[in-house]
Amino acid sequence: MARRPRSSRVIVLLLLAVVLAAAPWRAAAAGCGGVVRVDGTQFVANGGKTIYFSGFNAYWLMMTASDTARRDAVVTAFRQASARGLNLARTWAFSDGGDQPLQSSPGVYDEAMFQGLDFVIAEARRHGVYLLLCLTNNFDDFGGKRQYVRWATDTGHNLTAGADDFFSSTVVKGYYKNHVKTVLTRVNTLTGVAYKDDPTIFAWELMNEPRCDADPTGAMVQAWVEEMAPYVKSIDGEHLVTAGLEGFYGDGEHESKELNPRGIYYGTNYVATHQAAGIDFATIHLYPDVWLWGSTADEQASFFRNWTRSHVDATAAYLVKPLLVTEYGKFLWEGSGANKTQRNYFLGRVLDAIYATASRGGPLVGGAFWQLLLDDDGMDDLRDGYEIILPEDTRAASIIGNHSEQLASLNGQDAQALRRLAN
Ligand SMILES: *[C@@H]1O[C@H](CO)[C@@H](O)[C@H](O)[C@H]1NC(C)=O
Ligand SMILES: *[C@@H]1O[C@H](CO)[C@@H](O)[C@H](O)[C@H]1NC(C)=O
Ligand SMILES: *[C@@H]1O[C@H](CO)[C@@H](O)[C@H](O)[C@H]1NC(C)=O
Ligand SMILES: *[C@@H]1O[C@H](CO)[C@@H](O)[C@H](O)[C@H]1NC(C)=O
Repeated sequence: MARRPRSSRVIVLLLLAVVLAAAPWRAAAAGCGGVVRVDGTQFVANGGKTIYFSGFNAYWLMMTASDTARRDAVVTAFRQASARGLNLARTWAFSDGGDQPLQSSPGVYDEAMFQGLDFVIAEARRHGVYLLLCLTNNFDDFGGKRQYVRWATDTGHNLTAGADDFFSSTVVKGYYKNHVKTVLTRVNTLTGVAYKDDPTIFAWELMNEPRCDADPTGAMVQAWVEEMAPYVKSIDGEHLVTAGLEGFYGDGEHESKELNPRGIYYGTNYVATHQAAGIDFATIHLYPDVWLWGSTADEQASFFRNWTRSHVDATAAYLVKPLLVTEYGKFLWEGSGANKTQRNYFLGRVLDAIYATASRGGPLVGGAFWQLLLDDDGMDDLRDGYEIILPEDTRAASIIGNHSEQLASLNGQDAQALRRLAN
């Protein structure tokens, strides 16, 4: 990808820095206030005060920080994010096998990569940003369930269902549990704090976007979550846990399956799986354009309204837990016909929906856009059509910054009073 000259932007950046230094949301972002807990449909920190999440995804943080020469990029990302009031980063605490592994084979860890994660956690803390740490992937990127299954078959275990054996094989579940235990009990080499005791970590996510073709009813993922969430709790009773679901409905009770994009099943039940013991809050993802590829803007807008409304309603009625939109974005690339004006409009719609619910005491209390990147020569490969580069995408940055400020004005409210408001 062609690079544009940088010098013309230096003055703009300096001006921006002056403006941001005076911005009111800075104070709010600085208050990373202790372990986050759940009170009804609210997140609370610091003695029961509510906290709302204006967040971003940056899966690349650990990997970048594993190269000590590249750590400044991680610092820059947190600095740019916290300057816009962002108080939550969702990122990968896994890289299973492959060229740049955290876990190169079951139980074998790359210390430089782990120190990269140590650095990410230390920087998040320094910038007042909470972390949602994800423990493996449904998809093949950075290993995921297929790599776990391959580790088992490579050592002679007879697995026949393919990557979805991940959810049922005793051997593979053992590998996964060992990864969970290794990460949670890791003592940060920079701060001296064990991950399981570090209040910078907001929550653990069992897997990025669990799906299961092998069992469309959702029973297989359900059983896996029912086993793994309590397992995480058995090692770390402090932090919150979520499954990592996209929000697809299945066959269970209270499932609005007619709302699934194109009516397809993905092997998960939104309501039932979030009811599992050990699951503290619910998540959805939101990609109307790619989920309804080729549909009109009106159809996508209709889907957006239905998806958010149905999940907010189901969460309030059947889960009574908080809900986060842990991924949302609009896919832009040359020739797609979509442009940044439309992306920014979508961004505004999502953030308005979050604020509208949060401000009336409802369960949708935050989100994280996919994905924050830097204008950095080392990151061209990470551009995926969804990237938001805050200093360049000034309108998106302004929308995000204003939203952070709105949410920050709700922070610190009395959670029980809000619950009464919602009822
Ligand atoms: C693997 O398991 C399948 C199904 O249980 C069985 O049919 C097959 O014979 C087994 N293969 C080997 C090599 O044991
Ligand atoms: C949204 O819900 C309405 C009412 O249930 C339905 O008519 C419409 O088709 C839904 N839209 C989409 C895109 O699913
Ligand atoms: C973005 O796309 C929309 C819809 O096609 C169009 O109306 C608008 O003019 C475009 N905006 C820019 C800045 O290209
Ligand atoms: C953000 O808020 C500022 C100050 O209220 C306002 O001037 C600006 O237009 C807002 N930006 C957007 C994108 O709404």
